Amino acid sequence: MFHESVIVCFVAIAALSSAAPPPPPSSSPSGEWWRDSFIYQVYPRSFKDSNGDGIGDLNGVTSKLDYFVDLNISAFWLSPIFKSPMVDFGYDISNFTAIDPIFGTTNDFKKLTTEAHARGLKVILDWVPNHSSDEHPWFEKSIKKIKPYDDYYVWKDAKIINGTRHPPNNWLSIFLGSAWEWNDKRQQYYLHQFAIKQPDLNFRNAALRKEMEDALVFWVKNGADGFRIDSIPYVYEDAQFRDEPIVPNSGKPADDPATLKHIYTIDQIETYQLVQAWRNAIDSLGGEKKILMTEAYTSLPNTVKYYEYGSNVPFNFMFVTGLNNHSTALDFKRSIDGWINNIPKGGNYIANWVVDNHDNPRVTTRFGSLRADQNSMLAAVLPGLGVIYNGDEIGMEGLQLSWKQTVDPQGCNAGPERYASLSRDGERTPFQWDTTTSAGFSTSNITWLPVNPNYKTLNLAAQKNVPKSHYGIFKKLVALKSSEIIKSGELQVILATDKVLGVVRRLPNTTPIVLLINFSNDAIQIDASAWMNIPSNMSVYTSSVSSNISLGAHLDTTSLKLNGASAVILA
Ligand code: NOJ
Repeated sequence: MFHESVIVCFVAIAALSSAAPPPPPSSSPSGEWWRDSFIYQVYPRSFKDSNGDGIGDLNGVTSKLDYFVDLNISAFWLSPIFKSPMVDFGYDISNFTAIDPIFGTTNDFKKLTTEAHARGLKVILDWVPNHSSDEHPWFEKSIKKIKPYDDYYVWKDAKIINGTRHPPNNWLSIFLGSAWEWNDKRQQYYLHQFAIKQPDLNFRNAALRKEMEDALVFWVKNGADGFRIDSIPYVYEDAQFRDEPIVPNSGKPADDPATLKHIYTIDQIETYQLVQAWRNAIDSLGGEKKILMTEAYTSLPNTVKYYEYGSNVPFNFMFVTGLNNHSTALDFKRSIDGWINNIPKGGNYIANWVVDNHDNPRVTTRFGSLRADQNSMLAAVLPGLGVIYNGDEIGMEGLQLSWKQTVDPQGCNAGPERYASLSRDGERTPFQWDTTTSAGFSTSNITWLPVNPNYKTLNLAAQKNVPKSHYGIFKKLVALKSSEIIKSGELQVILATDKVLGVVRRLPNTTPIVLLINFSNDAIQIDASAWMNIPSNMSVYTSSVSSNISLGAHLDTTSLKLNGASAVILA
């Protein structure tokens, strides 16, 4: 984005002077256009509805491309838009190479990518390899044992104990309960690590592997600039199907996957090799570099291992699951240092910081509304790539839905007693554009999930021209991200006090960039200058909405007062 506009200016100047040198290359020398930028996650069902059916669609996204230009992000990734019965709202795919009519047509997708590319924006698709829908024709043929589909899924015989049928082992689904479902027709169990209607594909079968790779290549040829790879650790399982060990005293009900130590259902070495094979397949097509982002909620070593198997962005979920509103400045420092120090050396790999996504309570829920800007500020000042979720940029808040309103399979499976903490509906409510019908998301009053009633005051239109709003702050963060000091400056993560985290970026002969976050809810006065070796007088680049420090103010850093839960970036 930034580079595209540089080129436009350059070409204009070159046209005036025939002696001018040829234009510079379009992006970073390595061609990795995602470096030092923010990538924006669009949850298509909830972003913008163009046809008034209460569900967001591709034409809705296309109509908002200029919004992305205004935000200055490099790319957006779309949660799945493929043909699906929508049991898991698109993560249950019944045709890997077709667009679901709810979202539009293949032509709508072409229009989206063409218009995005014309604006210098990249389009990343969500690739869901672990499972298909049980309504995929492959599964229907697999049940009937039609070759080669008979082996496209993970089928196992029942274990018979005292004449009674039992699942083949103790594996549990992420959506609670046994990961095995009996199929009467085939007289076998099939594996589903997620919903019953999401049978796991069998990647030990070469024909299936080829089909999936072909589908990936299909989307690259149709305009995709890369993929976010869904639930990648689950793709292969132990070939011997051994029981997983039980976590002692987990305190969880027996159907909860947290009761098991997942050593046989995730992180198998073949999974990494598969990512490498996809990397090679995509790279062999040539053209501009394609991004691969891997979604793996696993240990830090197993997460960063994806770097060496072709993932550019092994999602770093520390702000999403590892830290919360009880975390201290020290917790943050340790987590940040841990990630930075574990990036494999010598591969030119970059860090990434996921602020939020559609599977976890919103940042405002996890950290509190006063801290709505804090993690985006960190993602901007720390080196590498930031990833935000639609709505973060305006500080959208989660909505607690009633049991009756719950549609998320994870929430529904949990039942009325347990759904509240497990349902993901709360973070998926429609984007709040303005104060019109359904917050400007749809012309319909009825939307697939209710609009958060706070849209009357919390919406993009109300923030668009307000520098000290979540939106105003986020725009400054995106601009900062591509500055030289953030791209290549030295990094220091410092405990300015036990309650105040400091992040400093330095380049020789340049004023440093300094982020300070007060982790206490009370005001704190500090001498940041002496402790962090920063100039005694600095100006405010931006400050959180919760901060009473004004933008552009000049501050004496020898005696800096930060009000509770506030954050400030000095330059
Ligand atoms: C991870 C996705 O982000 C989530 O929404 C989905 O339910 C599971 N994978 C299963 O595909």
